[in-house]
Formats: sequence, C-alpha cells, structure tokens
Amino acid sequence: MIGWRIHHKAETTSTNLDARGGSHGDVFTADYQTAGRGRLDHKWLSPPGTNLMMSVVVSVAGLSPERVATLPLVIGLAVCRAICALTPVKLGLLRGLSPKIKWPNDVLIKGRKVAGILCERSGDTVIVGIGVNVGQTEFDKEIADRATSLALLSHAGAFRLPSSVLSLRDSILAELDNWYSLWRAGGFTAVYSEIAAVDFLKGRTVTVRQTDDDAAPIVGVSNGIMADGSLDVGGVKVFAGEAHVE
Ligand code: BTN
Repeated sequence: MIGWRIHHKAETTSTNLDARGGSHGDVFTADYQTAGRGRLDHKWLSPPGTNLMMSVVVSVAGLSPERVATLPLVIGLAVCRAICALTPVKLGLLRGLSPKIKWPNDVLIKGRKVAGILCERSGDTVIVGIGVNVGQTEFDKEIADRATSLALLSHAGAFRLPSSVLSLRDSILAELDNWYSLWRAGGFTAVYSEIAAVDFLKGRTVTVRQTDDDAAPIVGVSNGIMADGSLDVGGVKVFAGEAHVE
C-alpha cells in the first residue's frame, strides 16, 4: 500500500505547482486556488472551501512514455470508483449514478463534467491534479450546461462541507492505490476492461481537437478507448487531444 502523505493549505496558487519536487505518495490539497490550472492552458476556477482540489505525486520510474500516457485513464477510473464507493452512504448521493470516463481526462455523470484531471510529468514522477466539483451548485454561464457537482446529484440536505470533500479525498486515494498498483504491476491491460466499461464516448459522434483553434479536427463515430489507451474515431487512432460530443 502507498503511505499517502497529505500536505494541506487553506490557500495556494495551484496544488499542481505545490507538488513540483514532491515524491511518490505526496498529496497536496487546498481549500482555494488563486491560479488553478486546467488542460490546454485553461483556468480551473473553484469557489473557496467548496470542491476537492488535490495533486498526487506518483512514480513512473522505468515506464515507457506509451505506458505513462495511459495514466490519466487509470486516474479517471479511480475517480469513478471513488464516487461509486460513496454512493449513497457518505454523500447522500442518489442511487444508480454511473460516472463515466470521457477520454482522455474527464469524469462525467449524466453527461456533465464532475471532475477534471491534469497530469504533468516531473522527472521520474507524474503530478496528478484532480479537481472534483463537490459542493458547487452554480457555474459560470460558459460551462453551466456542461458541468455538474456531487451536491447537485445528492439528496437535498444530505450534503456536508468540508466532511464530504474529505470523504471523497480519502475514497479517491484508496482507489488510486488499488488501480495504480495494478497498472504499475500489470500494465494498461490489467485495468483495460474496467476502463472500457465506463467509456462515455464509445458509440458517440465526436470531434477531437489538439488545440482550441485546431483547423483540422478529427471527426467521426468513436469505437471507444483502445487497449493502448488511444481513442478510435471512425477507425483512426487518436493519442491526444480534447474530445467534444456533437
Ligand atoms: C481539466 O479538466 O482541465 C483539468 C482540471 C484539473 C484541476 C485540478 S484542481 C487540483 C490541481 N491543481 C490545479 O491547478 N489543477 C488541478
């Protein structure tokens, strides 16, 4: 088992920045980020004391770049399982929620984003930044129709802050320990069937862009996440990018 070491701050710039120089098992959390970072240089905004913001340092020493590229999917699986593990006992979540991985880095519930993952290589480690919308009930208008939170999905009055954030943090760390260890020992194939079972994009028409203004996006019906971690879009294997559902 990984002996997680938790370092918490009330306020920081970004927990992913705090995690630079950390070693395997270090976990950096904050109640508020003044410069939270998302993928593709997007900002990650989160009201103070409302959501889970955490950066976990894990070792990837000795692993090929191809294997390391599959780590975000393993993290997505851990987040899905952690949410399921808390349903409905600790968070009062509605029964039957089925979180899904939206390749490569998002977790969705009922088609809306509940969590984002930002993995950054740092020497022999990867800094795994995880942001989960826990208690937030209102979102900026640009994302309001695409975002959700555990509070919005729970029974009225069942939700408590900050204990709900801490429950989720511990649940994710327990799942991460399990799935990371399997992946580390047995490769992506050891976790692939579990990931394929929660693949949001399979069978949907998707557009994959490498940048926000990508002039030649890849468009097609997705055959889902492949055994090498790529996304099959109409028979074309895509190894990186941001997927949008039409
Ligand atoms: C995304 O969906 O674009 C990824 C969002 C990742 C956000 C988390 S919050 C904790 C960690 N610190 C950051 O600055 N970003 C990640």
